[in-house]
Amino acid sequence: MQSPAAPAIVANNLSFNWSDDRPVLKDCSLAVPRGEFWMLLGTNGCGKSTLLRLLAGLLERRSGDVNLAPPVGFVFQNPDHQLVMPTVGADVSFGLVEERLSYEQVRQRVDEALMAVNLLPLLRRPIYALSGGQKQRVAIAGAIARHCEVLLLDEPTALLDPDSQIELVEQVRKLVKSRGMTALWVTHRLNELDFADGAILLDRGRVIDQGEPERLKQRLLEIGNGAEVAS
Ligand SMILES: Nc1ncnc2c1ncn2[C@@H]1O[C@H](COP(=O)(O)OP(=O)(O)O)[C@@H](O)[C@H]1O
Ligand SMILES: [Mg+2]
Repeated sequence: MQSPAAPAIVANNLSFNWSDDRPVLKDCSLAVPRGEFWMLLGTNGCGKSTLLRLLAGLLERRSGDVNLAPPVGFVFQNPDHQLVMPTVGADVSFGLVEERLSYEQVRQRVDEALMAVNLLPLLRRPIYALSGGQKQRVAIAGAIARHCEVLLLDEPTALLDPDSQIELVEQVRKLVKSRGMTALWVTHRLNELDFADGAILLDRGRVIDQGEPERLKQRLLEIGNGAEVAS
């Protein structure tokens, strides 16, 4: 057991190459305190998705250490790559298969998770009939049903309209605070930073700053190409 004060997400000196001549991540170290909502920032192609996948164990690291409080949930940019079952309820329960729970336990976990993301009335709704924001909330409900301590989200609002974007970021913040989860949310959208407890700034594969969201917002504006980060 980790003490309550220990960070729930830690990486030390993480490096990664997609090929021998192209280092993508260089000596990245970061820590996200337990129970907080942090964002991972940086311009397109700087290595955010690669770093998140290494943290999740979806990619094998070449060097460095990673330590995350289990279980870990992952939310992809495009929910159509994540949701595999035909209905909301079936998809959320699918992630529980390995836990060998009773029917009643599964039912209770699914109800609780859908309630947490305000989707309980859509339990039987086919996935194809959902909006993009609702699909992302189903993916998040999957992680909540598994009682995930840590949630990693890779630009979950990239395909959403501005209203659904803000709704989702508010909801994840609320979930983090009400359930004591720890979340790391990848974005290059500056307005989402207003909801973060802290942020990590990645530039060309290096962590160049971490801490106060407001300070990092300014630094991202300095390094980013204005059009991209303002969108
Ligand atoms: N599967 C892959 N194979 C080879 N190169 C990749 C792969 N995925 C990403 N890259 C390269 O790694 C770098 C970082 O990509 P990525 O982590 O997706 O950045 P970001 O998420 O910040 O936009 C980019 O140069 C990208 O082209
Ligand atoms: Mg990416």
